[in-house]
Amino acid sequence: LTDIEDVRAHLRAERLAAAREGKELQVGFVPTMGFLHDGHASLLRNARMDNDLVVLSIFVNPIQFGPNEDFERYPRDRDKDMSLAKREGVDIVFLPTVEEMYPEPTKTKVLVSELTDHLCGAARPGHFDGVTTVVNKLLNIVAPQRAYFGQKDAQQVAVVTQMVMDLNMDVEIIPCPIVREEDGLALSSRNVYLTPDERQAALVLSRSLRQAEQLARESEEATVEDLSQELVQMIESEPEAKIDYAEVRRFPSLASLPGSMRVKEVEGKILLAVAVKFGTTRLIDNVILTME
Ligand code: PAJ
Repeated sequence: LTDIEDVRAHLRAERLAAAREGKELQVGFVPTMGFLHDGHASLLRNARMDNDLVVLSIFVNPIQFGPNEDFERYPRDRDKDMSLAKREGVDIVFLPTVEEMYPEPTKTKVLVSELTDHLCGAARPGHFDGVTTVVNKLLNIVAPQRAYFGQKDAQQVAVVTQMVMDLNMDVEIIPCPIVREEDGLALSSRNVYLTPDERQAALVLSRSLRQAEQLARESEEATVEDLSQELVQMIESEPEAKIDYAEVRRFPSLASLPGSMRVKEVEGKILLAVAVKFGTTRLIDNVILTME
């Protein structure tokens, strides 16, 4: 479906049919920008398990891209996406045009403060304002009970969860684990940009995170600063890699941790997050640890 009204009408009919049988239709929603891979498929599988009806949206959202980012060349493959959707038992694919979603430049935006000041928010000004605005619109259109997001974009999960909480939105945000290639590279639609050499170099992302995680688990003395040093050194040892950030923060608050603090003493979840450029391609990866 390409029209907002068609999606609403279809869902209204399904909800009514379920209500006639005395049931409440459970709707699961997976928002994406398409060029689907196994990471997206894992979200769809989770949605399929928990719900009666699964809605997938495919929309490359212009307002979350900066002026010098890859909106125009973002990879698109409608046919492959449709067959993956079919294979995963998706009930409704919502494929709006930019004109359908933004008939005129939006005068209303949803902005989450503080959480968006760090990491990708600092590197990509305005990016999360575009994400929260479009996710809000999509949730208003689909009105699902549950929406599924990948931990691959850990900050996105934190920001969207905060929005839902702050605005009392009636939806449960379900975070799903990162899906990786066998060699450790996190699946991403942007991986197609990589040359074979860059593809090899990009393994430094998951390798550095694994190494830092091991240090966190095995050392009693390692500090927060030691972990971020470990990340930076590992990434800098790869000549093709240009580091954007490599940081250790609390999750989901994204609050910073004192560098001198021993990792073993941190209560709650710890996010190790990296963003690295290979040529013109910027990739992100992360792990979330608990020390207790
Ligand atoms: P996109 O990058 O297409 O990702 C859609 C969803 O798939 C996100 O929740 C993302 O975290 C998840 N995902 C991507 N790669 C994954 C992987 N390797 N393992 C698990 N999940 C993965 O994120 C967006 O689109 C957009 O910002 C969107 C939320 C659709 C708003 O425009």
